[in-house]
Amino acid sequence: MINKIHSLGGYIHEYQKSIANPRAFWGQQAECFYWRKRWDKVLDWNFDEPSIEWYVNGKLNITENIFERNLYTHGNQPAIIWEPNDPNDESRTLTYRELFEEVNRFANTLKRLGVVKGDRVALYMPMVPELAIAVLACARIGAIHSVVFAGFSANALQERINDASAKLLLTADGGFRGSKITPLKEIADEALETCPTIETVVVLKRTKSDVKMVVGRDIWWHKAVDGQSTECVAEEMDSEDPLFILYTSGSTGKPKGIVHSTAGYMVYSAYTFNNVFQYNAGDVFFCTADIGWITGHSYIVYGPLLTGAQTLMFEGIPTWPDAGRFWDIVAKYKVNQFYTAPTAIRALLAQGNDFLEGKKVDSLKVLGTVGEPINEEAWHWYHDHVGRNQCPIVDTWWQTETGGILISPVAGITPTKPSFATLPLPGVQPIIVNNEGKELTGNSVAGNLCIKYPWPGIARTLWGDHERFKQTYFSTYDKLYFTGDGAKRDEDGYYRILGRVDDVINVSGHRLGTAEIENAINEHPLVNESAVVGYPHAIKGQGVYAFVVCGELSTGGVDGIRKSIMQGVTKIIGPIARPDLVQIVPGLPKTRSGKIMRRILRKVAEGDVTNLGDTSTLLDEDVVESIIEGALVDVKR
Ligand code: WTA
Repeated sequence: MINKIHSLGGYIHEYQKSIANPRAFWGQQAECFYWRKRWDKVLDWNFDEPSIEWYVNGKLNITENIFERNLYTHGNQPAIIWEPNDPNDESRTLTYRELFEEVNRFANTLKRLGVVKGDRVALYMPMVPELAIAVLACARIGAIHSVVFAGFSANALQERINDASAKLLLTADGGFRGSKITPLKEIADEALETCPTIETVVVLKRTKSDVKMVVGRDIWWHKAVDGQSTECVAEEMDSEDPLFILYTSGSTGKPKGIVHSTAGYMVYSAYTFNNVFQYNAGDVFFCTADIGWITGHSYIVYGPLLTGAQTLMFEGIPTWPDAGRFWDIVAKYKVNQFYTAPTAIRALLAQGNDFLEGKKVDSLKVLGTVGEPINEEAWHWYHDHVGRNQCPIVDTWWQTETGGILISPVAGITPTKPSFATLPLPGVQPIIVNNEGKELTGNSVAGNLCIKYPWPGIARTLWGDHERFKQTYFSTYDKLYFTGDGAKRDEDGYYRILGRVDDVINVSGHRLGTAEIENAINEHPLVNESAVVGYPHAIKGQGVYAFVVCGELSTGGVDGIRKSIMQGVTKIIGPIARPDLVQIVPGLPKTRSGKIMRRILRKVAEGDVTNLGDTSTLLDEDVVESIIEGALVDVKR
């Protein structure tokens, strides 16, 4: 059993223990798992190279810790409860034993298709049980999974497949999302035109859409698994063998392949799942994320399944058939812990309380949020209406790179404050530094959020680019992991996340690099250059505001070019990155050395131009004047 905190005193005690002797603390948390061979040393690390190894020389397989370890007690209990997009379609429940057999069957399928330990398998799939099955099948045989969110475009998929040199792609004919169908196979085919490493494509039949199957490359899922054994011995993995790659956006153009390792990630996802949400045996846990993001990896798949929990997986969207869908699901399965993003809460809040009224949501015990700062209005609505003033809210701060939650209340134990992630979990040592890297000690300070000591879930590298890993996270401030977020610590020592301090924006809880969007805009034949910034958006948290310099205007005029720029970004990255506002400008505000002064653009985008700060280094003040004027006249908000 994973150790659980039961009281505020218990939290303080565990925290102090974890700081005084991190190795002893994390060694103890790993005891309950099944190891083929125990570790020699709990931790070896330095943040200079950086090199981080947890449970050194341990041998294990994470799926043995999900299945073999749990089957005796949980074999006949639900593991995955799946709710389809259409509420009138049949739902599915897989017990641990059934899931185990499906995982083994697919693991054998992968082997037959030539996948071996260390190979990369890309997944571009809808939210159906087969996605979780395939992820675990990869882990069973030691293949490295790389799940690509099914909302990404062909171009984005191709880029991720090629960066990881994936051998196999798992996809589906299509995916249901509300009233729409995403033509996944068609998009995948377009991507695969330039993916030389892909040998085989396994296609799940989901929407029954008409798709083209390429002879010699494509194979139907149901045919591939047919006749495969439901027994498969797990591959023995080293603690530090990569478990998966997950791409995320950074401040520079190309997405980064975050690499997580086996043992540390296992211990950390399970420990945080149990403690933050205070999951108890028999509870139903519902995380609304997509498995294409880290939240789905850690808190739909690994954390819950390592615990023997019942994890609910939902294929659809919160607003279809109507904005009461989440609450219908909560009522249908008597959900106990519900975990979603502030953007979903704001979208549902905006629809009023009618969709919530009369819904039987009294099974709820804990509410969670993740992905972006939650504003007080959304926090209170969540707390008062969804939680009926009875459920603690856990505002969980973490990142793709951290593998699991770092700063968060422990549900029902840590006193909460709206919009505060509150206190670090045991083993997590945050510090706030100023721009010169000097630690700001004491309370009531604000600055850049860093972590000064490793925790087991920390990413180990970027796939194929360790130097970039070092540059991005360990070079800004000496001997510290830099999160890219700003934070303040208040008079009680509580942390409040203020948002990104780099060129990353957070749109509807999706992390997007402004450079990535600019690159996509610059592909447009009439565009000379562009600059993208975030601006406050009532539902999305941040919206995408693009300032664009065009050579000449096409016959469609300004509106035509705006539209085609938006379409271009949708095509190159995906609809999540589509600019909300496009302003055509005569030039960008630059310093004499040619650097774009984004600070000024952010101010304009925020609609606050009363104080632009120091503009003395500007090359051309007139450009700023016309941008301000254009923002008022041309941009319809
Ligand atoms: C932001 C998602 C405020 C933050 C798990 C972080 C948050 C980025 C919170 C990581 C929170 C995440 N409050 N901001 N509770 N949680 N963020 O990699 O800016 O998709 O750096 O991981 O989301 O996004 P990612």
